Amino acid sequence: MASPISYVDQVAVVTGAGNGLGRQYAKFLASRGAKVVVNDLGGTFNGKDAAGKGDARVADVVVKEIIDAGGVAVANYDPVQAGERIIKTAIDAFGRVDILINNAGILRDITLRNMKTEDWDIIMDVHVHGAMKTARAAWPFMRKQKYGRIINTSSSSGLFGNFGQANYAAAKMALVGFSETLAKEGAKYNIHCNILAPGAASRLTQTVWTSDMMDAMKPDWVVPLVGVLVSRDCQETGSIFEAAAGHYSKIRWERSRGFVANPDTLSPDLILDNYSKIADWTGAEHPDNAAGAMALYEKAKSLPKANVPNPSQVRLQ
Ligand code: NAI
Repeated sequence: MASPISYVDQVAVVTGAGNGLGRQYAKFLASRGAKVVVNDLGGTFNGKDAAGKGDARVADVVVKEIIDAGGVAVANYDPVQAGERIIKTAIDAFGRVDILINNAGILRDITLRNMKTEDWDIIMDVHVHGAMKTARAAWPFMRKQKYGRIINTSSSSGLFGNFGQANYAAAKMALVGFSETLAKEGAKYNIHCNILAPGAASRLTQTVWTSDMMDAMKPDWVVPLVGVLVSRDCQETGSIFEAAAGHYSKIRWERSRGFVANPDTLSPDLILDNYSKIADWTGAEHPDNAAGAMALYEKAKSLPKANVPNPSQVRLQ
């Protein structure tokens, strides 16, 4: 077996590390030598009472756990929306930032019909705006040192949609596009950025999962994959992963071969006639960049053209 992954001489920032998954990431990274900024404002699961009544200073508890175990950590209590202050804590305390895990999150589950603008805005603010703020603040340091490992936390709700979570799903999917772009912008500087859709028992899931599920889905199951993705030798970037209850997998885009229309024959009827080709996954491709999409188009042009009996009859007027 390869020697154990180590984060010695590295500085990690974990947002929302006072509870759930973030707490486990922070403790694990510290146990393998990272100096850790434990960020958490001690809020409620839905972002109400963000001042953190009763829960305040959860970050302190995790910092103490790390220090008691022989590790190095400092707390930060800023909201992720003020991400630059979280990164400043890392720079002030440790002089650098190597690993950024954007993990902080809240839920405001409600159907679109009943959703208030505020329910949408706060979810976008914490998940999307927050991740952008920390990443943007860390970026110049990572660029300069030509090293960075970023994880942005998505969700199966974002990847597949989930009833009552239009706000959360939209935010979590936004993080996919954000991360895929950071992977491209960071490639030259050895800054890698991946996307994680975890599943774990936490405050966020306790209201919807059975006690059996809560027992089986320990956050600890998610940690090892994150540990690999933020490690020095890991070359993975721009990828989407799922991790829950000991199951680890990748998710990717798939594009059917489709068909190419002759510009002279454009019409909805043409689409209908060829719909089976659009929806046929045989020989599907797995694009990972926009240039790939153009290349596919070029390739598709060599496919047999769709036949329309008489274009003039079906052309849109
Ligand atoms: P959790 O509620 O146990 O922990 C989230 C932490 O983030 C809390 O300590 C909270 O105080 C903190 N936080 C919330 N808003 C913050 C803000 N504005 N600034 C700083 N800290 C803030 O939740 P859990 O389950 O550990 O979730 C972690 C991440 O994983 C979240 O992004 C969540 O959306 C995502 N996720 C979790 C799943 C699960 O099964 N637990 C499923 C899919 C995604």
